[in-house]
Amino acid sequence: MCGIVGYIGTQAATEILLSGLEKLEYRGYDSAGIATIWEGEVNCVRAKGKLYNLRYKLEQVETPAPIGIGHTRWATHGKPEEYNAHPHMDMARRVAVVQNGIVENYRDLREQLKAKRYEFRSDTDTEVIPHLIADLLKSSPPLPYSPSPFLDAVRQVVNKLEGAFAIAILSADYPDELIVVRQQVPLVVGFGQGEFFCASDTPAILPYTRAVLPLENGEMARLTPLDVEVYNFAGVRLKKYPRLLNLNPIMVEKQGFKHFMLKEIYEQPGVVRACLDAYFNKDWNVDDSATSPINLGLPAKFYSDLEQIQILACGTSWHAALVGKYLLEQIAGIPTQVHYASEYRYAPPPLTPNTLTIGVTQSGETADTLAALAMEKERRSGKEPKYEARLLGITNRPESTLGQMIFHIINTLAGIEIGVAATKTFVAQLIAFYALALDLAYLRQNISLTKLLKIIDGLRQIPSEIEINLDNQERYIEQLAHDFAQTKDFIFLGRGINFPIALEGALKLKEISYIHAEGYPAGEMKHGPIALLDVKVPVVAIAMPGNVYEKVISNAQEAKARDSRLIGVTPVKEGEAVEIFNDLIPVSNVEEFLSPILTVIPLQLLAYHIAACRGLDVDQPRNLAKSVTVE
Ligand code: AGP
Repeated sequence: MCGIVGYIGTQAATEILLSGLEKLEYRGYDSAGIATIWEGEVNCVRAKGKLYNLRYKLEQVETPAPIGIGHTRWATHGKPEEYNAHPHMDMARRVAVVQNGIVENYRDLREQLKAKRYEFRSDTDTEVIPHLIADLLKSSPPLPYSPSPFLDAVRQVVNKLEGAFAIAILSADYPDELIVVRQQVPLVVGFGQGEFFCASDTPAILPYTRAVLPLENGEMARLTPLDVEVYNFAGVRLKKYPRLLNLNPIMVEKQGFKHFMLKEIYEQPGVVRACLDAYFNKDWNVDDSATSPINLGLPAKFYSDLEQIQILACGTSWHAALVGKYLLEQIAGIPTQVHYASEYRYAPPPLTPNTLTIGVTQSGETADTLAALAMEKERRSGKEPKYEARLLGITNRPESTLGQMIFHIINTLAGIEIGVAATKTFVAQLIAFYALALDLAYLRQNISLTKLLKIIDGLRQIPSEIEINLDNQERYIEQLAHDFAQTKDFIFLGRGINFPIALEGALKLKEISYIHAEGYPAGEMKHGPIALLDVKVPVVAIAMPGNVYEKVISNAQEAKARDSRLIGVTPVKEGEAVEIFNDLIPVSNVEEFLSPILTVIPLQLLAYHIAACRGLDVDQPRNLAKSVTVE
């Protein structure tokens, strides 16, 4: 995580760096800092906490320096204190470094440097880098024909580092050079008019240019006021061409909402409509045998002899994958496994033939998901066709590392999500899985046309049902939230297709309200977790009419018998069943099969309002970052 940004050109760097860091703050907000070069000195200013603290400090020391680097931190090594904030510098304060990632062998390097009497001022892994560069610049004569001793020194140091990292470095002794490095952590170079940029993610540089070059693993670039040169870690210069991004600068505005998260919850009807319009062919009719009602454009090898699907993901994307598994098995009839990418990396199952591997990541940058997919690609390469890698990505950022790594992508079209807690991107992932399951079922003739068209029709009703539900639910949930501002534990119950929604409801609450919460398949309660229940532990039960409705109601009864306050997420129906709930959050009575798209939304609202009621920072909860680019 962490965000890095760099600038070299003709304008004053500070404001450009700060505006870039603002767009990267979703990657971490434990501290922030920038370093610029002015009048032969490195000026480094750092501040603990959010970016506004740094902005405040910089008001006193702003310079017109035309070169600089900046960083917003998500702490990995060392507490979130100012002394651990980036940039880090060498002892003579001539070299400044910002890093996103982890230098795994930093302990050894630190010991070697300490033996040479280098003093460390932070607990970070990053601080070894400026000391190593300074050491090399001091002791090694420039290499013959080298364009830059600074570049040489950085290259030699990078070859000593183990781990996954993106780095930007400047030196007061080479004030016309900004060196950037990428090793498994994203870094993009931007080409402006007489100015160049680097950043962890494109939104940071989009206000200035759409011409970008995403560096690949094992590449470094030397940015000067005139030029960008790209090299590999062996020092060989590479031929590279920028590409033009088809994106506009992102409007980061709350549009009257108190928080981005609430705005993003309210954007969900539009997101579902956009996905449905993109994935399903509106004009298709039953006589049209040449085309498909679903527009995913999957190649034949993805479905014709397909025997198994495995899905790799983390966090909320993993929950979407669990709903995906239900759909792929129940609609398309394909056995599907869902793995935490972080577990899969170190204990992959034996290779199975004719297997489709799907990576789900809204950011397209989650280190574990990318590494698991890369491993899968690698261990299947050179194998016979039935074992070859068939990879599909589901992401909200097709321009991300995932998009560069995997050819076949389903773009979830949710628009940039600013709130750290995923809401609209989750719902968009669900729609992607409905489309994928229906497409595979249709292509493999696993579904009748009548059933297929009925489900598509049901999906098309969903956006207006979300709108109706939002109208009916929000005030009620806002009031309900007050009762839970002091609650310490929550239980969420669901079954079948709504079990992943129970997990997601619990995750949302944990993330933004810091209340301990667990999601369980309702039938599992009596096998242990029921011991947790008493009057202080509310239980949220998702009870949608369908084949497990009565079961969920019985499981909810069991919780109520242990004095838990029972909150139902269920359609309002006359009769005994719903009367068991102490509180009832009404949801439209749609087919159980489509219900997760509706049932997750009140749980997002509940988490949001409880967190807001507790006065917490909903959009940037403590200890989290939106894009988890470290292992
Ligand atoms: C979602 O609310 C979380 N912030 C987190 O679990 C997230 O889903 C996870 O880190 C995976 O991110 P990705 O979808 O970008 O891979």
